Amino acid sequence: MKLESMNDFFTARVGGYDAHMLTNVEGCKEGYIKMAELVEGYYLASGEYGSPLLDLGCGTGLELEEIFKHLPDISITGVDLTQTMLDRLREKIPDKAIRLICGSYFDVDLGTGTYGCTVSFQTMHHFSHERKRDLYRRIYHALKPGGIYVECDYMVEDQAEEDVHFAENLRLRSEQKIAEDAFFHYDTPCTIENQIAMLEGAGFCSVEMMFRVENTTILVAKKKENWNG
Ligand SMILES: C[S@@+](CC[C@H](N)C(=O)[O-])C[C@H]1O[C@@H](n2cnc3c(N)ncnc32)[C@H](O)[C@@H]1O
Repeated sequence: MKLESMNDFFTARVGGYDAHMLTNVEGCKEGYIKMAELVEGYYLASGEYGSPLLDLGCGTGLELEEIFKHLPDISITGVDLTQTMLDRLREKIPDKAIRLICGSYFDVDLGTGTYGCTVSFQTMHHFSHERKRDLYRRIYHALKPGGIYVECDYMVEDQAEEDVHFAENLRLRSEQKIAEDAFFHYDTPCTIENQIAMLEGAGFCSVEMMFRVENTTILVAKKKENWNG
């Protein structure tokens, strides 16, 4: 199997992308709806309607389309590595307040105490624990006190299964002489347990699984109300 760079992988598939996610990936269609309900629940409970939402790996905007059904006036920042995915998002949603940043969420400045809510949908399963731990800390800092991070992703139940995916990724990258820090597309899902531990390690005070259909899983991680560090 020849690995493709993340950008090439999604650029080559952007045409059929939405239909693929909504029909072929078990749990995604329902997951977009559930994520939007959870996001609305946060804004209703907190009253923080003026707080913007950050979407990491927003792609063509499938989760944002659902979120706008509940919160039509919400202000959004979307970050994605692949310009063609962002172009498609703009075509589909031309009239909303979305600030789009083409770049890696590992590099883009996420700010401090800015967002009520951060979401990611089916993007984190491409990265190592180390990278994710660091990113989760930065997401924590980017949230306002009491804010939430909602992650929907491909997660597995068994450590042995996670290990097989990571080992195969390493083998392919080494065989194809791919630099350690280059973004190439290969699925390395983590166990739900490891995901929760990484989020708790980043400082979140509670992390709960709110949805699971096949391997599509939603975790909600909450930042403490009285955090001011
Ligand atoms: C499977 S798609 C998910 C898109 C969208 N969230 C959805 O569910 O339809 C993964 C997206 O993550 C983006 N991505 C992957 N690595 C990234 C990174 N390091 N920084 C920003 N975006 C990234 C890809 O470009 C792609 O658009």
